[in-house]
Amino acid sequence: MCGIVGITGNENATSILVNGLQKLEYRGYDSTGIYVNDQNGKDYLVKRTGSISNLKAAITDEVHGSTGIGHTRWATHGGVTVENAHPQFSQDNRFYLVHNGVIENFEDLKTKYLSDFHFVSQTDTEVAVQLIDYFVVNKGMDTKAAFLKMISLMQGSYGFMLMDREQPDTLFVAKNKSPLLVGVGKDCNVVCSDSLAMLDVTHDFLELKDGEVVTVKPDSVTIEDQDGNVVNRDTFHVDTDASETEKGVYPYYMLKEIDEQPNVMRKLSAKYLDENGAPLFDKKLLEAMKQADRLYIIGAGTSYHAGLVGKNLFEKLVNVPTEVHVASEFAYNQPIISDNPFFIFLSQSGETADSREVLVNVNQKDFPSLTITNVENSTLSREATFTLLLEAGPEISVASTKAYTAQIAVEAILAKGLGEFKEIEVAKNFDIKQQLGLVATGMQSIVDEKATIDDLSKKYFVDAEKSFYIGRGTDYFVSLEASLKLKEISYIQAEGFASGELKHGTIALIEDGTPVIGIITQANTASLTRSNLQETMSRGAKKITIVSDDLARNDDDIIIPTVDELLAPLLSVIPAQLLAYYTSLNKGLDVDKPRNLAKSVTVE
Ligand code: F6R
Repeated sequence: MCGIVGITGNENATSILVNGLQKLEYRGYDSTGIYVNDQNGKDYLVKRTGSISNLKAAITDEVHGSTGIGHTRWATHGGVTVENAHPQFSQDNRFYLVHNGVIENFEDLKTKYLSDFHFVSQTDTEVAVQLIDYFVVNKGMDTKAAFLKMISLMQGSYGFMLMDREQPDTLFVAKNKSPLLVGVGKDCNVVCSDSLAMLDVTHDFLELKDGEVVTVKPDSVTIEDQDGNVVNRDTFHVDTDASETEKGVYPYYMLKEIDEQPNVMRKLSAKYLDENGAPLFDKKLLEAMKQADRLYIIGAGTSYHAGLVGKNLFEKLVNVPTEVHVASEFAYNQPIISDNPFFIFLSQSGETADSREVLVNVNQKDFPSLTITNVENSTLSREATFTLLLEAGPEISVASTKAYTAQIAVEAILAKGLGEFKEIEVAKNFDIKQQLGLVATGMQSIVDEKATIDDLSKKYFVDAEKSFYIGRGTDYFVSLEASLKLKEISYIQAEGFASGELKHGTIALIEDGTPVIGIITQANTASLTRSNLQETMSRGAKKITIVSDDLARNDDDIIIPTVDELLAPLLSVIPAQLLAYYTSLNKGLDVDKPRNLAKSVTVE
């Protein structure tokens, strides 16, 4: 949550910071702010509530400098006001600080060190910057020592970046649990929460570890560990092309990302399968997974939903018991773990704090793990034993689409590879290459017909207050994802339900005209789901069906191509993504930036 950018040594600091914040807006968009210093005694602080366009409008030509910091906020402590926006600054206007994370003990620190001080904001962050000022002014420390002292007192998660008016070309940086990278540029250096923000300046980044303190100047980056020892570290190169983060001809990223899915399927097939369809995985990964008596899939939100589909794949193709858990629950309420577990973390961003909390615990117990993520070098990728990449390209829209289908496709290829490795007959006979080809073509045919889904949205959803997606087995798992998509961007209350369960209480909510969407791709439960739909129609529901071609009837609404039932979620979710997109669009909402949300959730 919250995005941080910083730069030192570039005369265009203002526009680089603003462009960077624009790329990070997915991390929060309640308010934004920048502080820039021209190195000749002039500095500027501009903060606004609302989106980055409000900040841009407030930045005059005069706001210039070569060093600066910026922040885009997702409010945790304190409402959405200019006072609570970052950078937060010290009472004497000497220190400016941006922060991503949550300081858990900020009230205690206020009481202990600053009980007489009048705070301007309601944020947890302000205490950090006032403490630095306090240690410099009252205790005679230099800025770095005060920064270190402040950090030593912090409990919680943070990415901090500090500027001192008296050393205006220097950025003081530290992190704990929150993501933060330093980018090495030509004659300048940058700091950012996500490399995407600074690809216009550099593609070479340095990973930072929890507890390290970094001093960034125009011509040097000094990393020190907790004991003050200088750490030498190589940069890593980010291949992503800056243009991949542009919307191009699309009105919203979400539509672009939905349309990219057929190509993502082809890319995954090419990356993880050879020309004969044999999976290409590191033997060490397969060996480690083969030893497992149980798989544990951990994820949040959409990634959790992709894990539910994965359970089916691993159980059917690998014959191994598989549990799927919501990360935030598993972290603090663990079930009994089997003797030889193997953990799979699903995370588009690779930064989700809830999932990372579980991984830290898994590592403490020395259990083997795999992270399946879209972001190379992300925290969950670095800290797991193995990583597989989703190859989906940057996903910018807050509502996840192509990462969900990519996660399922990677799980399917992995299940095929592991199943074959364990000589399981079903896996050997599963022609994943051919099936993924059919999936890609099928996805293309659905996105090509998107206008029909726009019509359905206008007819039944734009004015709806609530709706239900129902199904059984994997159709139920897709119902959970489909309803999450609809509710998060259209604000229509939408529930995903096991269709047989509806009659045990929830059916009481069905009223005249309530849209109920049935997902039907599994032959053994098709007629049961149809009966459950009928029950809702008898109570006034408007039924809509998403059905595989081979199970379709004349009165079905959205007919999708038939593929192997194990991979049907890859197709049945696409109309649901489009329905959510068009309903949000038709309601005049900001499709890519739904209210109250942020894409990368780096607080627990
Ligand atoms: C919903 C959505 C979220 C994320 C969740 C986990 O559209 O995107 O539910 O799936 O916040 O994020 P990652 O996958 O980055 O761990």
